[in-house]
Amino acid sequence: MRNTMRFFVATLAVFALFLSVAAVTASGLPQSGDDVSVGAQLYDKWYAQLGVTPPQGNHPLWERQSTNTRSGPDTWRCAECHGWDYQGAAGAYGTGSSHYTGFPGVFVLADRLSEQEIIDHLNGKLDPLHDFSGLMDEQSLRQLAAFLKNGLVDDSAFIDPVSLKAISGDTANGQRLYEAVCAACHGVDGQTLVLRSEGIDEGLGDVASRDPYRFLHRSRFGVAGTVMPIGRDLGWSVAESHDVLAYAQTLPRRNEQSVPSGAGTGSQPAPQVGGPPSDVFGGILTGLGVFFGMFGMSLLFILGFVAFLGAIVFILRKQK
Ligand code: HEC
Ligand code: HEC
Repeated sequence: MRNTMRFFVATLAVFALFLSVAAVTASGLPQSGDDVSVGAQLYDKWYAQLGVTPPQGNHPLWERQSTNTRSGPDTWRCAECHGWDYQGAAGAYGTGSSHYTGFPGVFVLADRLSEQEIIDHLNGKLDPLHDFSGLMDEQSLRQLAAFLKNGLVDDSAFIDPVSLKAISGDTANGQRLYEAVCAACHGVDGQTLVLRSEGIDEGLGDVASRDPYRFLHRSRFGVAGTVMPIGRDLGWSVAESHDVLAYAQTLPRRNEQSVPSGAGTGSQPAPQVGGPPSDVFGGILTGLGVFFGMFGMSLLFILGFVAFLGAIVFILRKQK
């Protein structure tokens, strides 16, 4: 009887050790993601995903418009021309937005085109100026097509086009998910990591309120070059991602004055670029934030494990 008990306890201990090691390792590894998530990160900022320097100057198609006055690397991002809601000029980047280009969305494609036909849009077969094949390899083009074919979500019915507020969503469930997963790095108030957008320091609450489509895209598919967990890998449903957004919109904001810019209204520039803070101090803060986030999580697991070992020793002692 005693031996059985000992065996049972020993097995449990080994299992717990395995779990804590696995959890710590998983939380410390860079995100992997499937083809759809990698494709989504390429859509976000392909040069960051691939770790290459963006091309010089503006994208050649930029000449066809004059309303969006950004220049340089941003003009090469799929998201800058086609939108975080994937609707191009028909969505949040419509007339009135400082991001307005008049360029089409990519959403309708999902049903219409095959993956190969999408790839043909990306290798310049249909428009030689829309040729990304010299900039990334075939696998990346395939991952982009996989994302466009299988990853796009239409959230427009869920987000008010003018106030950009989540229309519904279970904030209590959102809070539960947020505090279980996101708070480790972003802090319970969303301010631990300083996010920088077009020169403005932001917390997660600002991003959620000002650019909910970007918030959804990045919380579903991750941010290139970071260890952030990917909602898609966590198995989050569309409803769960809406719950987290609705809750994140209630978080305190760093920039209360920067009101959301709705499509078609006289709008302010909606900050766009994610990326680490460019000033050294902010960068160090972000680094420290991530470090202590990860460190805190590891510490939690180790403490839990030590407590568990203590309990085992206590039980074994009692047996004697
Ligand atoms: C500088 C702006 C710009 C960038 C950057 C850009 N596109 Fe486009 N895209 C366009 C324009 C304009 C069209 C319209 C057709 C054309 O000229 O090729 C288009 C068309 C498309 C189409 C066909 C859409 C349709 O409804 O026919 C797809 C798919 C597409 N782009 C995907 C992407 C992806 C993926 C990326 C990122 C690798 C990207 N685009 C980057 C401007 C851009
Ligand atoms: C392991 C740490 C970590 C965790 C956990 C984490 N994030 Fe992040 N997150 C980051 C980092 C690092 C960045 C990029 C910061 C930067 O751009 O400087 C980021 C950026 C973001 C952005 C992009 C902000 C922008 O400016 O566009 C969003 C949205 C986001 N996180 C949402 C979430 C959500 C939702 C969760 C919970 C599911 C979460 N994060 C959990 C580390 C984390």
